[in-house]
Parts: sequence; structure tokens; C-alpha cells
Amino acid sequence: MDRIRIVGGQKLAGSIPISGAKNATLPLMIAGLLTQDTLILENVPRLADVVLLQRILGNLGVDIMIAGKRAGADPNSGRTIHVSAKNIVDTNASYDLVSQMRASFWVVAPLLARMGEAKVSMPGGCAIGTRPVDLLIMALQDLGAEIEIDGGYVIARTKNGLRGGKIVFPTVTVGGTHTAVMAATLARGTTEIENAAREPEVGDLADCLNKMGAKISGAGTSRIVIEGVDKLNGTRHSVLPDRIETGTYAMAVAMTGGDVLLQNARPELLQSALDVIASTGASVTATNEGIRIARNGGQIAPVEVTTQPFPGFPTDLQAQLMALTSRANGTSHITETIFENRFMHVQELARLGARIKLDGETATIEGVPRLRGAPVMATDLRASVSLVIAALAAEGETTVNRVYHLDRGFERLEAKLAACGAQIERLSA
Ligand code: UD1
Repeated sequence: MDRIRIVGGQKLAGSIPISGAKNATLPLMIAGLLTQDTLILENVPRLADVVLLQRILGNLGVDIMIAGKRAGADPNSGRTIHVSAKNIVDTNASYDLVSQMRASFWVVAPLLARMGEAKVSMPGGCAIGTRPVDLLIMALQDLGAEIEIDGGYVIARTKNGLRGGKIVFPTVTVGGTHTAVMAATLARGTTEIENAAREPEVGDLADCLNKMGAKISGAGTSRIVIEGVDKLNGTRHSVLPDRIETGTYAMAVAMTGGDVLLQNARPELLQSALDVIASTGASVTATNEGIRIARNGGQIAPVEVTTQPFPGFPTDLQAQLMALTSRANGTSHITETIFENRFMHVQELARLGARIKLDGETATIEGVPRLRGAPVMATDLRASVSLVIAALAAEGETTVNRVYHLDRGFERLEAKLAACGAQIERLSA
């Protein structure tokens, strides 16, 4: 297994190109199942999760073509992929693949909408809580699906096609909203989704589906209305920039000090996180090219933050914020309300010298003047990157083990950080 070796203490300076969002790419690729035509996605990041989803879709009969390199192409721009689900040959998604990535469960919606049946394994994914799929099942039932659960599989059927309905989510769920939106595009009649997730990735999916001929309004608000259509066509769509990658590098700079331009980043995708980063003492400036983050001297101020659905502070940046506040000049409190058990990074940050106490869903972080490098273990995607940014600011050497978690969600992490002066390298097994 690969490891990452970091020698901390360097300020970061330069620019980091922000990739297309993983969490938008996955539902967009899955939406390709809704049409017989080709869906062309641009700005797709090179990530292990994208490769895994290609395999899962490939098993269903989807052809995926990755456009070759073009002369003069910017090496930092994402890839263009052609997703063609002309013939769906299988409506089953098996345990061995779906258990590796939770989002792949979402194929249930387009398979059911287009083929009238789907058998999909209950998902796996990051070990950050129980993460059930009851609300996704509820949404499909509200659109007329018959659901059976057998041997760890969700078996969904519809005799005469899905029909529009009213879906009221008791909790905000991103995956539930993606699932409901995809299923409703091909349902007969109108669907109303109440308490929909407002995450920018839902908006990106809806934009792409509308270009494919869907009739979706209200995406980005908590009430989405979808008028079903008979069929969807292909289109070309560019994936929006990754707000979690943006926030992660912003916190790295806020922690190490320095001055970095996050190219292509869009402030409106993570305003609440940028406000928190600014409140720690870093300067945050929106420019025509992206977002500039700088901290030159000065201490890191402590914060009080609670994770919330968008537009609140994202749970996917909670671990990184904890790394940042571990060096603050004072005591911070971070409360995690989205996922229980999303504190596995605490023990590992403690190995670097962080002082963190857990009480239920709240972590109390007593800032320390310095961290020291140590061997640490990546436990999930966002937790592992929090160890990387802590290591960049720690004295001495840190090795991060189990970096396959990082490869799921961060494109060329070492190269991007090394280009800004970080001493970071991958040690291949
Ligand atoms: C997505 C993101 C993930 C992010 C999360 C919250 C992708 C690929 N993943 O995950 O990075 O951390 O949103 O912003 O986009 N819940 C239920 N029943 C359900 C579904 C969800 O109780 O059927 C609960 C979950 O346990 C959790 C909350 O709802 O407490 C939010 O989860 P959800 O928004 O669905 O997360 P994902 O879509 O899996």
C-alpha cells in the first residue's frame, strides 16, 4: 500500500488548480443511464471513485470513452468522458462493487425510471456512521415503485412506469435528492420535492438534466418541482469546481501560512467555510481567477462551528477545520450534526500532538503552539486529508498510511501541494 511522506514547516506559495467536483461527477455519470444518447462530461477529475463508477456502469452495459490528450491541452484541466447507455444489458449492481462506494447505489433511480426494474446492493463507502438508504427508498416509493429488500439487495420494480408524486424528506439528504430528481425526470406527471438538499452538486445535476431535456425548477432551493418527460437526450456539460478540495487547500494555507491562488475556485460554493477561514485570521480574496488565501504571521484564532447542510458549514470540511484549529491560539468547539461517528481523525491528530476532547457530537480543541510529525493512519476520505494538512504544519516527518482513501477524492494531491513548496512525496509499496 502506498504511503505519503511529509516534512512539515514550509509555507505554501503559488497556485493550485481546483479540479471538477467528485460529488458532482458521480451523479452526473449516473444520470447518463437516463438516456440512449451520449452524455459528454468535461472537467472530470482523475479519481479512484470515478474509475470505480466507470466499472459499475460498464457492468450495466454503459460504454464510457475517455477522450485522449489533445496537443496543447492544459495538463491541469480535467478529462472529457463520453457516457453512452444506448443498451442497458443488466439492471443489477452487485455487492462487491456497490459496497466500495456509497454513491453507486444511486444507479437504482435511473435504472428503475428507464427499465422499470433494478436490483442494487445496499451500499458501503466511508465508515462515517450508519448512513442508511431508507429515505432514498421512501422517495422511490412515493413515485410508485414497489420495493423489496432481500439478501442485502434493494429490489425495485414498477409495473406501468413511475408516476409523479410528492416527496417530503424528513432530513436533508443529498443522495436522496439526487435519487428523487433522477427518477422524477422520466415519471409521468409532476413531482414536488420538499426539504430538498440545496448543495451546489444538486444544482449541477439539475442543470445538466435540463440540458438533456428534463423540466426541473427550483434546484438549489429546498423545493424542487419536476415535470416528467418521455425521454431525455444527450448533451455536453462541464462539472463544477470542487468546493471541498477548495476548502481543504484554503485551510492548508491558513494553517501553514503563505499565499496561494486557488484557480477556478468559486467563492459562492463555500461561503460559510470561507467566512470561518477568514475568522481564523487568514485573508480570503475573491479574484477573477479564483480565490486567494494568505496568512503571513499572526496567530490562528479559535472558532465555534457546527456542520450543517448547504449553505451551512459542510461536514466534508469538518476534519480539516479540526486540523487547522489544533494550532489555534485558544479553544475551539466543532459540532458534527450530519454524521455520527465522524471523528475518527481525532485519535490520529492526537498522534501529531493535537489536544482534542470528544463529548457526544462536539469536539473541544485546545490549540497547541506546535505539532510534531508522526506515523498516522488514514481512516476515511476527508479524515485522511486532515492529517495531510496537519502534517504540512507539523515539525519533522509524518508518514500517512492507507492513502488509497485520499486517491478516492483528491486529484494529484502531492503534485499540487509540492508545486507550492510543500515537502511531500508518495512512497509506493
Ligand atoms: C453526500 C456526499 C458526502 C457528504 C454528504 C453530506 C456524495 C457522493 N457524497 O453523501 O460527501 O458528506 O452528502 O453533505 O455526494 N440519511 C438517512 N437516510 C437516508 C439517507 C441519508 O438517514 O436514506 C442521513 C444520513 O445518515 C446523514 C444525513 O442523512 O445523517 C445526510 O446524508 P446524505 O446527505 O444522504 O449523504 P450522502 O448523499 O450519502
